[in-house]
Amino acid sequence: MKNIVAIYPGSFDPVTNGHLDLIHRGSKLFDKLIVAIAVNLDKGETLFTMKERKEMLVAMTEELDNVSIDTFEGLLVSYCIRQGANAVLRGIRAISDYEFELQMALMNRKMEPRVETVFMMPAEQYSYLSSRIVREIAKLGGPLTGLVPKMVEDRVRERIARRHISATGKHLL
Ligand code: PNS
Repeated sequence: MKNIVAIYPGSFDPVTNGHLDLIHRGSKLFDKLIVAIAVNLDKGETLFTMKERKEMLVAMTEELDNVSIDTFEGLLVSYCIRQGANAVLRGIRAISDYEFELQMALMNRKMEPRVETVFMMPAEQYSYLSSRIVREIAKLGGPLTGLVPKMVEDRVRERIARRHISATGKHLL
């Protein structure tokens, strides 16, 4: 029997129900799944710190015995080798994701042929969901129900309200 250790990398700023759907699917397929939060210097300022993103992921996955949460810096494939992982899990929502994901998967394979990328589709209701859209809706005061868990929604709203106060001196309604 093969022991498949998979890494599910991402920014998770914040974790969404789409991410959690994929984590549940991955935990059924792989022997071990490590959700790895990337230090992504290209993305600029994040809504949550690494520590906060990790806390939310830990809380949302505590019932899954074969899932752990970690952070990494540098090349994903180097991190995979350090962890003894043989697979990378990525979610594909729509065709628009495919081009970037294909480029990343092929480049990762070129750098490290021992690591295979596995794509999974989240449930249809999450096919238009992303952390970026969650942040944007929250900033504009829209509803987040069904997009992120309640604990994450509360933390997103609290963070955005706090940023608004420090930027304007005014409370959001
Ligand atoms: O949630 P995201 O932002 O889509 O995740 C992108 C992520 C973190 C998976 C990607 O940027 C990544 O793997 N970064 C690590 C650096 C790396 O290995 N870059 C080369 C990719 S070919």
